[in-house]
Amino acid sequence: MDTFVINGGRPLRGNVRINGSKNAALPLMAAALLTDHPLTLEGVPDLADTRNMSRLLKRLGIDVTHTPPEDQQPSQLHLNPHDPTPTAAPYDIVRTMRAGICVLGPMLAKRRAARVSMPGGCAIGDRPVDLHLRGLRALGAEIHLEAGDIVATTPRGGQDPLQAAHVFLGGPNGSTVLGTANVLSAATLAKGTTIIEAAACEPEIVDLANLLRAMGANITGDGSPCIIVEGIDELTGADAYPVMPDRIEAGTYVMAAAITNGEVTLNNFPLDSLTAALDRLTHIGVTVEPETNTDASPTNYPTVRVLSPRRLNPTQVTTQPHPGFPTDLQAQIMALLTLADGNAIITEKIFPDRFLHVAELLRMGANITRVGPSAMVTGTRELVGAPVMASDLRASAGLVLAGLAAQGTTTINRVYHLDRGYHKMERTLQSLGADIQRVDDKNL
Ligand code: EPZ
Repeated sequence: MDTFVINGGRPLRGNVRINGSKNAALPLMAAALLTDHPLTLEGVPDLADTRNMSRLLKRLGIDVTHTPPEDQQPSQLHLNPHDPTPTAAPYDIVRTMRAGICVLGPMLAKRRAARVSMPGGCAIGDRPVDLHLRGLRALGAEIHLEAGDIVATTPRGGQDPLQAAHVFLGGPNGSTVLGTANVLSAATLAKGTTIIEAAACEPEIVDLANLLRAMGANITGDGSPCIIVEGIDELTGADAYPVMPDRIEAGTYVMAAAITNGEVTLNNFPLDSLTAALDRLTHIGVTVEPETNTDASPTNYPTVRVLSPRRLNPTQVTTQPHPGFPTDLQAQIMALLTLADGNAIITEKIFPDRFLHVAELLRMGANITRVGPSAMVTGTRELVGAPVMASDLRASAGLVLAGLAAQGTTTINRVYHLDRGYHKMERTLQSLGADIQRVDDKNL
């Protein structure tokens, strides 16, 4: 297993281009199941999760080929449906990636049947899929559980297509992102006009709606809690559809620059998707300054320069559905706030148990008290390097940030969690001057 060894205390300086978004790419890839025609996506990040999604789609009769990037050209992922008969997403792949559930809606709508292993819990807490099933049942799906699998058909045992409906996707912690992706995708091929209420407003849902429109779907209201979909009989493919930049990767590198008191320029920065995070960062004292944009093309994302003062202000952070502060940046901002000048409070409203990084940050000298879904972070003068354990993707990112700022050596094991969401993070950080190495822990 790989481990990161970080010698902290070096300010980051330089330039990074933000990659395509993992969480946008996964449902976009699953949309290949909605059509008989080829679909090409540009800028799908090369990560464990996207590779596993490719494996899953291959098992479901889609040819997947990859053209690597050349010069300024982004990489392209070609998805070519050739066999529409498979309808079962096997456990051996779905268990590696919860986003395997993304194939349920598209496969059911197009192939009229789907069998997908029920995803298990994970380190960030319970991850139920009841809202996905509620939404698909509202579209007429007949669903039961069998041997740990979700077994679904369209009405009358698969004889009729899905039927449009008024669907409500609100749950105890707000809407559901992948549940909205499933119901939205399925509704594109349902008979009639579907209204999805309490839909997720995340930018990744807007990206999916943009792709589906490029494939011929009739969708309005995406980005708001009410999405309207007029179903059609068939979708086409799409050519060179660009995946949006990864707002969580972008936010993570802003905070990496800030925690090391560095100065970093980030290109392809999804500024408009990060308003809540940038609001909190401004409060803390971090400057994120857009540079004048010379290219006015609509797909061109801005470049920003990140500057951070030595003294950070404490602040309050509450994670919420978009446009609120994203839960996927909670561990990273906690790492940053361990070095602020006073008491900060972080409240987690999406996954109330997503605090596994707290115990590891304590090992590095942080001062954090957890009370239910909140954590009080009392800033300290410095963090000290220590051996720590990565428990999930974003917790690992928080520990890397802490390690970059800490005095001495931090070793973070189980970095496979990190590899699920960040493309070669150690190389990116090395290019910014960090002293970070990936080693096989057998060699430690
Ligand atoms: C997506 O997960 C992301 N994953 C997560 O990112 C992200 O943390 C999460 O959205 C919230 O923003 C992908 O996009 C692949 P949800 P998703 O359904 O869609 C409850 C990362 O680190 N809920 O929006 O699975 C649920 O328990 C990952 O990149 C139900 O009650 O999350 C949670 O409290 C981790 N019933 C809330 O809704 C359901 O049927 C939001 O979860 C579904 C969810």
